[in-house]
Amino acid sequence: MGRKVIVTGGTGYIGSHTVVELITGGFDVVIIDNLYNSDISVLEGIRSITGVTPKFYDYDLCDRQKLDEVFRAEGKVDAIIHFAAYKAVGESVRKPLEYYRNNFVSLMNLLEMMELHNTPALVFSSSCTVYGQPDALPVTEASPVKEAASPYGYTKQAGEIIIRDTMAARPSQKAVSLRYFNPIGAHPTAFIGELPSGVPENLVPYITQTAIGLRDELKVFGTDYDTPDGSCIRDYLHVVDLAKAHVKALQRLLEGESKANYEVFNLGMGKGVTVLEAIAAFEKATGVKLKYSITGRRAGDIEKIWADPSLANRVLGWKTEISIEEAMETAWRWENRLKNKES
Ligand code: WQD
Repeated sequence: MGRKVIVTGGTGYIGSHTVVELITGGFDVVIIDNLYNSDISVLEGIRSITGVTPKFYDYDLCDRQKLDEVFRAEGKVDAIIHFAAYKAVGESVRKPLEYYRNNFVSLMNLLEMMELHNTPALVFSSSCTVYGQPDALPVTEASPVKEAASPYGYTKQAGEIIIRDTMAARPSQKAVSLRYFNPIGAHPTAFIGELPSGVPENLVPYITQTAIGLRDELKVFGTDYDTPDGSCIRDYLHVVDLAKAHVKALQRLLEGESKANYEVFNLGMGKGVTVLEAIAAFEKATGVKLKYSITGRRAGDIEKIWADPSLANRVLGWKTEISIEEAMETAWRWENRLKNKES
């Protein structure tokens, strides 16, 4: 058996793709997920790709006793990758306390378990949302963290600080925070992908649902921004590239390569893409014409942001390999698979 990794949120979108890369990389994966925003059938998808069904606990991380049970049952755990969290920006504005309780209590419980059960390493899912609207582009890890625009964003900022301070007090443990830019696409096998609940808020699932006929048209939120075509700029990266970065980060933690016991990495392609360019990439990759119209700006949107991923390139030996067109193509394949499953 390989080294044992507990993956919280392992049936979620980024979590499930990371579980696949971990299994194919020889790790022994244990998932904890309460299926709040994911589906048990994802385990089947993981098995179809890897031939392995990871061990699964349907537990809430806020339940400290249950969590303790898992760590007792699993014996020596080499690392935790912590994906599980509430993640909807708009909902967090309406339900701040739920976001604070869930995202903070689960993280603090995990950090406590690391101490109680001598788990040496943690990888934390963070977000480019910590940068707000940056003053200078691209953003590096040294760019200032701006005041959070939502309770969700604050849970990522504060989560990083909780981990940083805890690691400062525990020299024998290590952690990294990975700041994701905009993950898109699905596994090329189309056995796993993103499962948005209800009407998607994110661009790419909205595009694919429109193209397949579930939505009338995509609304482009504003073309009056200070960008080449007026639409907002983001750094879209393929979810499998992102998943692979977790394996690299884990290897760095476990092989003791880092001097510091807490590090932060930007994970992006390093390239800014406008909304209109993203639509064009979808159309080019799939040959499907997308119905869309221009509407007003969405409240809270950042005008433009993209990553400087050179630290991750250099230190983790990681870089994105999948183009936005290929990413769109996999997202489309996944949407079609979902449709065929239902019919
Ligand atoms: C991308 C672009 C929209 C939908 C996400 C997360 C956020 C953080 C960062 C995790 C924007 C435009 C979208 C639509 C559109 N991630 N758009 N019509 O805004 O970067 O935020 O990534 O922490 O929490 O939500 O991503 O996919 O929502 O939007 O025009 O129907 O697409 O205005 O410019 P965003 P997104």
